[in-house]
Amino acid sequence: MVQKLEIEGGVPLKGEVKIGGAKNAALPVLAASLLTEEEMIIKNLPAVKDVDTMLRVLKHLGVDYERESDDTVRMKAGAPSGDLAPYELVKQMRASVLVLGPMTARHNEARVSLPGGCAIGVRPINLHIDGLSRLGAEVKIEHGYVHARANGLKGAEIVFDRVTVTGTENMLMAAVLAEGETILRNCAVEPEVTDLAEMLNRMGAKISGMGSRDLRVEGVKRLKGIEYSIIPDRIEAGTYVIAGLITGSNITIENCLPKHLHALIDKLQEGNARIEYGNSYIKVSRSPDLSGVDARTTPYPGFPTDMQAQFTALMTQAKGSSVVTELIFENRFMHVQELIRLGANITIDGRTAIVKGPTPLEGAEVMATDLRASASLILAGLAARNTTIVDRVYHLDRGYEKICRKLGGLGARIRRI
Ligand code: EPU
Repeated sequence: MVQKLEIEGGVPLKGEVKIGGAKNAALPVLAASLLTEEEMIIKNLPAVKDVDTMLRVLKHLGVDYERESDDTVRMKAGAPSGDLAPYELVKQMRASVLVLGPMTARHNEARVSLPGGCAIGVRPINLHIDGLSRLGAEVKIEHGYVHARANGLKGAEIVFDRVTVTGTENMLMAAVLAEGETILRNCAVEPEVTDLAEMLNRMGAKISGMGSRDLRVEGVKRLKGIEYSIIPDRIEAGTYVIAGLITGSNITIENCLPKHLHALIDKLQEGNARIEYGNSYIKVSRSPDLSGVDARTTPYPGFPTDMQAQFTALMTQAKGSSVVTELIFENRFMHVQELIRLGANITIDGRTAIVKGPTPLEGAEVMATDLRASASLILAGLAARNTTIVDRVYHLDRGYEKICRKLGGLGARIRRI
């Protein structure tokens, strides 16, 4: 299996790159196919490994699917052929937990493996379990599995202790078929959550309050199948913005929604990045005066944790110091040690990384630990002198569509070895 990427750094990029569908919107939208026996057609799916894993999980649960083209799938959830999301698949992708809500809502039973630890933090699913219990399910942990059983879910008020993206999505998918009204408080408002709510409404659900922290759901008896197109991936777009800046290039990122990236764009402009945008494109120009700025990751609309590693890589090339604080996950600085191996000057103090720049980067062999960490190493490799080899790129393939081809199209010298 191909697992390494080789990058010849120091080459300026030019041209245009097209952004694919959002991985983190696609996963809950696919899981929502469990909520209806009618056919669903999902378009603009990104060609990434996590989408394949979700389709495999759904197949276990009795969803038949057929790929119509690279980015379109037809799916139909008949009677469940099983209720089990096995450890083998869940350990590859935590978001498999997204089947817990819809399975319990439609079939009154679900068994989903507990995901276990993860490179970026402990990542418990207690809020998913508590929420489902509030809706009347009996939820037990047995032999490493979450086993939920219900006799028809009943609407309730659920107040999330902390903002959770997939937790909000799971409870939305459970509540749409529950009897009566559910009020979800302190919800995540990430665009992917709103996208899911809009899709559920098009299937016949009654959700109101979209985009706010409180969502109201009036349960319905059944949902219908629809055709739906996934929103563009804001994190993929943001990663290419940084690719342009870190290499001092002029590039255009197309097919994206800059309105989903305000926190990042504002932050970069504060550091003198030359960025212009319209409704569906972002243009990055060579920015010789890039200066260090501080960033703190918070739930949307704040600065996204999924851009923290890439931003940290960029800050190594900015003038002055930058304090990057990670407030969502407790262990999301694994890329820092590797950036230091490339020549970065970064110190970590608890949840804070202090980056001093600019430091020249020099190619080396580095190891990816998770999806966004691998993106940050590739970005650093593009800016480094000589050759950088990034090991364990399977992390990258989980969430970046055709990244070698897309970067190659911009003129980067990058290849799989
Ligand atoms: N949390 C709990 N209990 C829970 C759920 C979450 O304590 O029951 C904590 C988490 O440990 C974390 C915080 O709450 O500290 C926020 O986690 P959240 O539940 O929002 O994360 P998630 O839903 O598991 C999604 C994305 C992540 C992204 C985070 C934060 C998907 C499939 N995944 O994860 O994406 O980092 O939201 O925005 O939507 C990625 O794409 O690289 C990625 C990791």
